[in-house]
Amino acid sequence: MKTVLVGVTGCVAIYKTCEIIRGFQKAGLRAKVVMTESATHFINPTLFRALTREPVAVGLFDDRPGDPIHHISLSKEADLFLIAPCTANVIAKLANGIADDLLTTTALATTAPIVIAPAMNVNMYQNVATQQNMATLRERGVAFVDADSGYLACGDMGKGRLADPEVIVKAVLDMLAVKRDLVGKRVLITAGPTVEPIDAVRFISNPSSGKTGFALAEAARDRGAHVTLVTGPVALEDPEGVETLRVKTACEMFEAVDARFDESDIAVFTAAVSDFRPAEPASRKLKKGTDDESLKTIALVENPDILATMASRKRTGQVVVGFAAETDDVEANARKKLESKKADYIVANYVGDGKAFGTEENEVMLVSSDSSEKLPLMAKGDMAQALLDRIN
Ligand code: C5P
Repeated sequence: MKTVLVGVTGCVAIYKTCEIIRGFQKAGLRAKVVMTESATHFINPTLFRALTREPVAVGLFDDRPGDPIHHISLSKEADLFLIAPCTANVIAKLANGIADDLLTTTALATTAPIVIAPAMNVNMYQNVATQQNMATLRERGVAFVDADSGYLACGDMGKGRLADPEVIVKAVLDMLAVKRDLVGKRVLITAGPTVEPIDAVRFISNPSSGKTGFALAEAARDRGAHVTLVTGPVALEDPEGVETLRVKTACEMFEAVDARFDESDIAVFTAAVSDFRPAEPASRKLKKGTDDESLKTIALVENPDILATMASRKRTGQVVVGFAAETDDVEANARKKLESKKADYIVANYVGDGKAFGTEENEVMLVSSDSSEKLPLMAKGDMAQALLDRIN
């Protein structure tokens, strides 16, 4: 999840910052607020704390246990630093490298992109000093969301009104390359391993961590989709804003998917489902010495193939994506799987040599009926975005 550090300065337009923060949250971004002392005369930090569910930073010398150099930790946390509303005073300080409070010190320390949305009286805005300061900052790569013209709080008419929250949010999302192309879509994802009991304490499973499926769920959520994640047992927490269903066995996973597949627009099956399960799991622990025959030979029955079953009843417009873990002949095997399962895409994982299972990175090939594309080794979150770019 990307973090937008929202700098808030002392200006009447400050109330619009609440809507800006909401906009970031709807787009799956984390917002964290740093205020100038003057800003706290307009709005109490409690409001921003409640909205963001994050501590709000104000004083440069506030005592923060475990974080003595707060401006540096804040500056590093930010993927982007937005200052909205930004007063003429703060613009002037930034243009001159002045760092005399927490907000301006953080701005000087950060290497993240800075976006400024100015708001002030028309004469202050048009003052050559302000215009020159803004030009200086632009030259240094600071981005501006220009103030609007219109009726100003002081009663004057002219340029200086804070841009619309929607415009500011969009500018930030564009800069962070956050896509919102799945708004209104339902995405169903399976993840993790399945666990098939042999007896009360033993089971058949595999080392799938669920990271790929969870990364896809978060990426689809961030792009605006309603996401349902059906996952086998994994050590990951439910992603915020994702309907997460926890199952154990392949049969339970099948049932959960079966009930939700028809309403989905995109279904991605990343789960490492056990192909077989013990035919007659014992309800008690099988004992060495007493139950040796049952332990030495475990009769297995085949599990339902969730992907193949769902893909066979796919409606027009629905997109079904399967995964395949391959150690060799990756493309040929993926193509075979594409045909046998009737999927629209197969994402073939290169496994073996410690690759894919449980790792943070993935190297995959995306195969469809008329294309194949090898994606470079990348973090699972980036891979999720790259796959959604292509699938959608
Ligand atoms: O046949 P194989 O297990 O290699 O196929 C892998 C793909 O099929 C994955 O997308 C996996 O989630 C899916 N699958 C499934 N149900 C099964 C077995 C595999 O959905 N029983």
